[in-house]
Amino acid sequence: MPKTFFITTAIYYTNSSPHVGHAYEMVLADVIARYHRLKGENVFFLTGVDQHGQKVQQSAAKAGIPPAEFVTGITQKWVDLSKKLNLQYDDWAETTSGRHKKVVQGILQRLFDEGQIYKDKQAGYYSVRQEQFLTDKERGADGEFGPEWGQVEFREEENYYFKLSQHKDWLLRYLDNRNDAVVPNFRQKELRNAVERLTGDLCISRPKSRLDWGIELPFDKDFVTYVWFDALTNYISFAGYDPALSTFNSQPSTFSEKWPALQIIGKDILVPAHGIYWLIMLHAIGFPDDQMPQLLAHGWWNLGGAKMSKSVGNIVDPFVLTDKYGADALRYYLMSDIATGKDADFSEERLVERYNADLANNLGNLLNRTLNMTHRYRDGRLQRLSEDLKLPDDAIDGYKQLLNEYKATKAAARPDVMTERSLYLASVLNGFIEVRSPWKLAKSSRAEDREFLEDLLYDCAEALRILGILISPVLPKAAHGIFDQLNWKMELSGKEERFSLADAEWGKLPDGHVVGKPVPLFPRIETT
Ligand code: ME8
Ligand code: MG
Repeated sequence: MPKTFFITTAIYYTNSSPHVGHAYEMVLADVIARYHRLKGENVFFLTGVDQHGQKVQQSAAKAGIPPAEFVTGITQKWVDLSKKLNLQYDDWAETTSGRHKKVVQGILQRLFDEGQIYKDKQAGYYSVRQEQFLTDKERGADGEFGPEWGQVEFREEENYYFKLSQHKDWLLRYLDNRNDAVVPNFRQKELRNAVERLTGDLCISRPKSRLDWGIELPFDKDFVTYVWFDALTNYISFAGYDPALSTFNSQPSTFSEKWPALQIIGKDILVPAHGIYWLIMLHAIGFPDDQMPQLLAHGWWNLGGAKMSKSVGNIVDPFVLTDKYGADALRYYLMSDIATGKDADFSEERLVERYNADLANNLGNLLNRTLNMTHRYRDGRLQRLSEDLKLPDDAIDGYKQLLNEYKATKAAARPDVMTERSLYLASVLNGFIEVRSPWKLAKSSRAEDREFLEDLLYDCAEALRILGILISPVLPKAAHGIFDQLNWKMELSGKEERFSLADAEWGKLPDGHVVGKPVPLFPRIETT
């Protein structure tokens, strides 16, 4: 049975509205999903929202409305953003859904029955913001808990614990045996170091007297489970996992044809959430090592070197940016101006700069002049005089390299590299047009010059058709624009089926093809 490529993002907290960093993660996952669709793979792209927990309960109380109502309102903003950004997701996870609750409770009951969950009493200092007990390790040099922990209070509480540390050796072995468990590799090293330091078990509950906005423990109605089993489990509950079937191999095919996932997460939730707790949870419920998800930990968009945060008030609103510049412009900037895995600084001026330089002056210009010249000199008709490419060597090499990279793309693609190479190809072609000077060729009566012109027009149009395919994951709207203007595959107008990596082979535009009229694809953004 053909495997489905399964990709997830983190699920987003519904205590506040999305900012541009969240938009980045969503677009990154969407772009990788689209790369795989280009290759003809079945894709299942899951994203969604994290709706339970202390912060949501507190925010709802502050707003004076029940948490369920509060969550519905914020969830809508995340749905709206995913539409604005043109995300093509296949399912939307919401942790308050019945389907999810059933899986969480099924897993908890099983681990409890197997003795992997036990009750214990704990007393100590507790960070309300981080929802965790603090130990002396968390004290600063001055012996106090730093401001990053927010309000810290003394608590004594009975709770349920998951036997995390008994799986420590397994996790070390798993990481040693698989060098792409985490991408990029330096994050895997960070994770491994953290696992070495792992001690103690994981508190997985809160008494309802403190937190009731959560999923009730199936074996003790005075408690809810919080954060870990509640949120992380979404990746399997929305993929069709059945907790009643205890072995991995007995899972329904809807689940097993998708799993394991490529999981796109930020660097902040690799250790300990995904890299330790999630992998150990999966291991504990019987997932074999070759069914562990791959974790792609991306970096963060900062603002002037500082972390974006609501409390500091330096949040960049993705709705404002999409309304102002369009989804493609924002998607292009977010994919191209950061090295996947590293951090970058967000700048609206830089967004405009890159849009104008790369999209308006380079790619857009290439399309515009190619179509203009084809109409002016050849009534819009392309002639294919030979099978060969008549482009300069670096354009041919660039094209071949790009194509090979797309074909070789493993689970986690590098959109920053792909966009750079695509735009480079466009710039080589623009340069070639200058060198060939078609405006002179058109006036010449030499047969050779006429052939040069035919070749140039054909090769530029053909390169644009291929670039349209290759940039479609990042710029879906613009890619349709290129295809429309080239008058190519109009019967599939607007449909994703228009784009397929198999069609990115050279020479598919037939001899005699008539191109459409040019319309500015990326109108320059004028700044004053
Ligand atoms: O952490 N740049 O939710 P969340 C890039 N619900 N990515 C950023 C970012 C930035 N400035 N700020 C945040 C949660 N992110 C939990 C996850 S998963 C079972 C539970 C990324 O809404 C962040 O790294 O705070 C994370 O991957 C995602 O947004 C969700 O953040
Ligand atoms: Mg966060």
